[in-house]
Amino acid sequence: MKHNKKQKYSITQQDRRLINKHKPCLIWFTGLSGSGKSTIANLLEKELHKEQVHTYTLDGDNLRRGLNKDLMFTKEDRTENLRRTAEVAKLFIDAGVVVIAAFISPYNSIREMIKTIVGDAYYIEVFVNTPLEVCEQRDVKGLYKKARSGEIKNFTGISAPFEIPEQPTLEIKTVEECPEDAVKRILEVLKGRL
Ligand code: ADX
Repeated sequence: MKHNKKQKYSITQQDRRLINKHKPCLIWFTGLSGSGKSTIANLLEKELHKEQVHTYTLDGDNLRRGLNKDLMFTKEDRTENLRRTAEVAKLFIDAGVVVIAAFISPYNSIREMIKTIVGDAYYIEVFVNTPLEVCEQRDVKGLYKKARSGEIKNFTGISAPFEIPEQPTLEIKTVEECPEDAVKRILEVLKGRL
């Protein structure tokens, strides 16, 4: 049983919002490895930065080098990876920041957990929908080849599942739409929310 009571602090998210001149939120990119999540996230952050929006990007590959370096790719470890990430995003939201996150996040149950942790009102889900064949053909990091040969186990799309998001706020088909156009659509959604 936990006995820690929440401590109250005087400065609230609302106070920070007044200084920042915008609301916080979380833009969560989900999709296969190599689908283009980081590319679009990066472009989105550059556009928001131009507009003086306070941003920070959380990236699966990067967080797995520090905070989450003890975790692998079993369902349990992915769940913990994303639980911690969602808790970090929640803190950034409290700090008034527009958080951008790029994680495979392959299970619907995990994406529901993330939404519950940060709060429905702050959560914007972007499904970067790139066919497995295309990701595999690009194979920017050479991981699909290793997954096919069995050198890497539990690889999403090959030897571990990716559940199609049920109700993403936005879907980006990277085969049909360039990153610039995708970012424009995301910015349209954000207009009413920031
Ligand atoms: S998640 O499933 O827990 O959300 P996350 O986004 O943090 O994954 O990390 C995915 C990145 O880790 C991939 O882009 C890839 O570079 C690398 N990676 C290494 N092994 C695996 C694996 N078995 N499955 C998926 N990605 C892997």
